[in-house]
Amino acid sequence: MDAALADRLRADLHAARYTVDRLRSLWGDAADAALARGDRVPARRALAQAEAEPAALLARLFLLGEPLDDDALQSAFPTLLPDGARRLGLIDAHGAALLDVRPYSAVDASGTADWFVVSDLGETALGRALPAEHVLGVGGASLTLAGLIPTSEVGTVLDLGTGCGVQSLHAARHGERVIATDLSARALELAALTVHVNGVRSVELRHGDLFAPLAGERVDRIVSNPPFVITPRREGVPLYEYRDGGRVGDAIVEEVVRGAADHLTPGGTAHLLGNWEYREGLGGDGLARVRRWISEAGLDGWVIERERQSPEQYAATWIRDGGTRVGTPEYDALCAAWLDDFAERGVTAVGFGYIALRRPLDEDAPRLLRTEVLSSPLGSAASGLGDHLLAGFAAHDWMASRDDVALAGEKVLLAPDVTEERHYWPGDEAPTVIRLRQGAGFAREIDADPALAGFVGACDGELTVGQLAAALADLLEVDEGALREQLLPQVRELLLCGVLLPASR
Ligand SMILES: C[S@@+](CC[C@H](N)C(=O)[O-])C[C@H]1O[C@@H](n2cnc3c(N)ncnc32)[C@H](O)[C@@H]1O
Repeated sequence: MDAALADRLRADLHAARYTVDRLRSLWGDAADAALARGDRVPARRALAQAEAEPAALLARLFLLGEPLDDDALQSAFPTLLPDGARRLGLIDAHGAALLDVRPYSAVDASGTADWFVVSDLGETALGRALPAEHVLGVGGASLTLAGLIPTSEVGTVLDLGTGCGVQSLHAARHGERVIATDLSARALELAALTVHVNGVRSVELRHGDLFAPLAGERVDRIVSNPPFVITPRREGVPLYEYRDGGRVGDAIVEEVVRGAADHLTPGGTAHLLGNWEYREGLGGDGLARVRRWISEAGLDGWVIERERQSPEQYAATWIRDGGTRVGTPEYDALCAAWLDDFAERGVTAVGFGYIALRRPLDEDAPRLLRTEVLSSPLGSAASGLGDHLLAGFAAHDWMASRDDVALAGEKVLLAPDVTEERHYWPGDEAPTVIRLRQGAGFAREIDADPALAGFVGACDGELTVGQLAAALADLLEVDEGALREQLLPQVRELLLCGVLLPASR
């Protein structure tokens, strides 16, 4: 990458106010939504009215796939100039885009960030299936992982499989230094341009397979949307570098989990997306397999399965993702290859979800090893999941140092995002269902009996857990010991999930 040219591109993108908000104000919400579905027509029509605007020209070039003439290129790149844009590999000799350069905006605990992301042209702009060496732009999975990255300040972050570099932008917001790796040399070139045009100088790019570029080094945080897509190793099946890390089945996810143990500093955490196979026979349960990888690696882990697909659904998802249409002979051949591979290896389903790992500070401390299925929609809560999971690890530590007697002596608080919902049979005074709803985190819904609901409602930090249990037993006219025995594990679960918080740490 030519840094001087990249600086000039940066100046032009800023001068044009090439931001998500600016484009939305130019073409409106409906055209914005249409574009997200791959439909360029409404945006094209709206931009016809703002022809001379540099932001509109950049959008026509990079997002709508329109070649620009020399005058328009001159207005779009007043500093870089059309020749600079060609030398930087952004456009061809006819003024058509060779790369996708788009604004990207994100909000986290530190506020809003407006960035630019450089990637390969997508399927809509190319008008054909993606080439094997395609470098992916910001997709749904990228956004999911971005929400899983904690926002606490940290030393060195590893962005494993950086692609277009989007996670490095997020990681650099809270990390002193970022090491971004990829097996694709092309991805590293585009990531270099992405971080440069955003003025981010703390990212070091390294080439190589998984953890190989790290050799013996350790980092404080790992973030990765690894190339986990299970791909049959058969002739004729395209191997997309952006999603396929070259292993069989889900071995790449296992390798990343085990590798994290060798490359995290004590107390360091990893935040990953992944796939896990469910296989026939004993020990084939997908979540139990991930649990085993984590436990054998000596890590703390919290795994959330968001979706489980049958082999048929899985094959269809990833064949379509590569741009092959259902009902074509190519699709049929690929589908058969996927189903044969799953059948031969006894795979009955594939789970997809999030993995948070931590290398314990104290090797002898009780481990957190939690796997669960949580498929309810997250809505706006999704952006702070990384911080939420870290709070879960901290709650685990807090509880691990307190037996039931000590916990009964503690005061706890109800988290401010929790509300309660009650359902009644018409005319009845007693509710048939009491449900606690978490607003943030995983937006959990927890069914509570009157005792738990009464307990949670009284958690204002005035009385200890034990005092509350005693008062409730009195009120409900039940045995105090039995109620305490019921409540203590429930309180531990609610503390871990962030529904209750320790009044003092
Ligand atoms: C799913 S993309 C993720 C891109 C980006 N981090 C994001 O979140 O959008 C996976 C990336 O891993 C890279 N990759 C593929 N095989 C790899 C390997 N064996 N080692 C390291 N990176 C690999 C791909 O080139 C691709 O950039």
